[in-house]
Amino acid sequence: MADSLLVPLHVKYIAALAKHRGSLAYHLTTHLRLNAIYWAATTLHLLGAPEALPRDGLVEFTLSCWDDDAGAFGPFPQHDAHILATLSGIQVLALNDALGELEKDGRKERLVKYICSLQDQDSGAFFGDSTRLEQDTRFLYCAVCALSLLSSLHSVSRERCVRAVLAARNHDGGFGTVPGSESHAGQAFVCVGALAILDALDELQGADGKGKDKLAGWLSERQLPCGGLNGRPRKLEDVCYSWWVLTALAILGKLHWISGTKLSQFIVSAQDPDHGGIADRPDNVADVFHTFFGVAGLAMLGGPPAQGLREVDPVFALPAHVTRRMGIQKPYQRLPDAPREEEAQ
Ligand code: FPP
Ligand code: ZN
Repeated sequence: MADSLLVPLHVKYIAALAKHRGSLAYHLTTHLRLNAIYWAATTLHLLGAPEALPRDGLVEFTLSCWDDDAGAFGPFPQHDAHILATLSGIQVLALNDALGELEKDGRKERLVKYICSLQDQDSGAFFGDSTRLEQDTRFLYCAVCALSLLSSLHSVSRERCVRAVLAARNHDGGFGTVPGSESHAGQAFVCVGALAILDALDELQGADGKGKDKLAGWLSERQLPCGGLNGRPRKLEDVCYSWWVLTALAILGKLHWISGTKLSQFIVSAQDPDHGGIADRPDNVADVFHTFFGVAGLAMLGGPPAQGLREVDPVFALPAHVTRRMGIQKPYQRLPDAPREEEAQ
């Protein structure tokens, strides 16, 4: 079993994914394609090998997912727009310093209008698309993250957004998808991330002033004896929760409330040492989603397995050099021996 991060093998694994266009798996996952491109490209940046996927091809594919009827991005050409694909499209453009492409044909203004149109004016919660069938705190994070990347956060009601996030909080200190739904670590990331972007983290404290510690306590209970984290009580450990849990802890300044050494060992043990990529847990099949969350988790934890990685921004889910270049960074905890970008002069 590998005991360090197999950087060159993971670069090769991700570069090879682009060549599998004839496979059944490729055709069965078109609904996630732009998300997958975001996971793949961001991982390569964190691994220090952005050139392994050609920049022009990434930008061109992203623009080909534009749904001109809606004025936003779908997950694949000719698919309907959705907020999940829209955030990924904007993130891929930001990653490649290509947001200027949205200045053409009024696309940026149309995107802002589309995103704002998804907010429920009563609750402040967000729908995922224009069918307005489903609300989820995930969609609210996507909306505020995308608007911030477009320098347009002022276009949405901050007060309504904050209200909707707080309404999804539970007595155990965690967050659900909608008011009253079970706490889930994925929702901790989206809710804490959204509050960070909205400069409203102090709203977490609540009447007893203990809201942040209560949430951090719930998050720290996600660590299992094997070192891996689960997303909810009584569930199995999974590498992707390294991201959902660590990001929320980093934003709260409580990364030291879990054992980073044990978690790093768990992530590294879920690598495929023959073909590259990281799986949800050891001995399962690797995929690009868990490869991204494993690499990004190690980048937050630091130590020897993070050697050679670049710093990740847990608020915007992008390499820190991108959010620093854009001047949009928010505060988060950085462990002393984790990868760190130079401060802007
Ligand atoms: C759990 O996934 C994860 C969540 C519910 C959060 C998802 C967040 C987004 C899609 C927002 C955008 C994300 C980024 C990184 C920019 P799951 O459905 O696999 O949970 P399960 O383990 O319970 O099945
Ligand atoms: Zn997972």
